[in-house]
Amino acid sequence: MDTYPKTVSLRTGTAVLRPLTHGDAEEVLTFARSLPIHDLMFLRRDITNPDTVAHWLDEIDRGLALIVVAEIDGRMVGYGMLSLNELDWSRHLAELRVLVHPDYRETGLGRTMIREVFRLAVDRGVEKVIARMTLDQTAARSLFQELGFRPEALHENEVKDRSGKLHDVLRMAVDVKALLARRDSYGMN
Ligand SMILES: CC(C)(COP(=O)(O)OP(=O)(O)OC[C@H]1O[C@@H](n2cnc3c(N)ncnc32)[C@H](O)[C@@H]1OP(=O)(O)O)[C@@H](O)C(=O)NCCC(=O)NCCS
Repeated sequence: MDTYPKTVSLRTGTAVLRPLTHGDAEEVLTFARSLPIHDLMFLRRDITNPDTVAHWLDEIDRGLALIVVAEIDGRMVGYGMLSLNELDWSRHLAELRVLVHPDYRETGLGRTMIREVFRLAVDRGVEKVIARMTLDQTAARSLFQELGFRPEALHENEVKDRSGKLHDVLRMAVDVKALLARRDSYGMN
């Protein structure tokens, strides 16, 4: 994480990417509490809860997570996260998650964050990267697909939202070596 802070160009200006640190707990909560309920509902953990942020920081300290935040005008507008796997036989696997505040979507930030976190996975020697999304997260699906991820499983009724409605979760995955072999066509170099 030594190339940060990093300024990236968006369609409407720039954003600064940097690792999440222990001093950011309040900023994450402010960001989380500004999100619409629909976005919060499909996160694996409720990030409006200070315990979740504490858990994230603990995972970072234990080397199990890498989290990059995106800021515009000094305000957090999104994050990308790589969760490494501590299960003995799945250490080659990591999960990529990304969230951009609705006010800053369609600016290229989501694509930039996905590629940024993917690079971190490559740097760490991760062999397989997965991403999980509900079927209505179509922008996410198209961004991961564009990078080379393919659907590999549909988990029925995996998520129950706060109203009690069940949703299927699509798991997408990419084999890192195979993707890198095609990296020129994806602008990953
Ligand atoms: C997925 C997400 C990060 C994308 O962020 P973003 O900043 O809007 O991303 P970008 O601007 O880089 O790109 C969005 C792309 O999706 C496309 N898109 C938007 N809505 C779409 C839809 N309903 N169906 C298909 N594609 C769509 C856009 O056209 C754009 O592509 P383009 O740049 O080629 O025009 C954001 O929508 C988000 O935070 N969603 C909620 C959380 C989530 O779904 N996370 C993914 C699971 S890990």
